[in-house]
Amino acid sequence: MKILLTGGSGQLGYELQRSLQGLGEVVAPGRAQMDLADLAQVRAVIRAVRPGLVVNAAAYTAVDQAETEPAVARRINAEAPAVMADEARKLGAAMVQYSTDYVFDGNKQGAYWKATWPIRSMSMASPSSRLNRRSPRPASLT
Ligand SMILES: NC(=O)c1ccc[n+]([C@@H]2O[C@H](COP(=O)([O-])OP(=O)(O)OC[C@H]3O[C@@H](n4cnc5c(N)ncnc54)[C@H](OP(=O)(O)O)[C@@H]3O)[C@@H](O)[C@H]2O)c1
Repeated sequence: MKILLTGGSGQLGYELQRSLQGLGEVVAPGRAQMDLADLAQVRAVIRAVRPGLVVNAAAYTAVDQAETEPAVARRINAEAPAVMADEARKLGAAMVQYSTDYVFDGNKQGAYWKATWPIRSMSMASPSSRLNRRSPRPASLT
């Protein structure tokens, strides 16, 4: 099985490159090959690789900078994962999407569930993450 891993140069992606090795052929394009700000390129790469599993460990993580360029943060953290989920669904592939605890402001009493709404954001980066929770679902979302 081919595993398409994004964000391989990041903190999480670096560890995933190693831990996913035993599960299949890991294809880990960098930003130069698959820029999440370029939605057409995201679609094209997934269609070319045809993975059985998409692991999205890429994200716009500069939370302060996101305040000044919210559209870019939204494209990378919400729209690109939606495109990835759509393409994964078309391929019958599973997808793993990592989010952030920045969507939780800590004021809720009791446990959080995936259907807990509304989730209040703590930065301009986090509404983007909130959006990807509503994005089209692939065949299987972990
Ligand atoms: N680290 C943790 O302990 C942890 C825990 C839970 C959840 N998470 C979540 O996991 C995700 C990644 O976190 P991280 O700590 O690994 O972040 P990070 O170290 O800042 O890495 C971000 C990764 O995303 C890539 N990236 C950013 N913009 C991109 C773009 N336009 N196109 C392609 N790739 C792009 C970066 O590539 P470049 O090298 O090209 O910039 C880098 O590989 C986030 O959603 C975070 O909330 C992380």
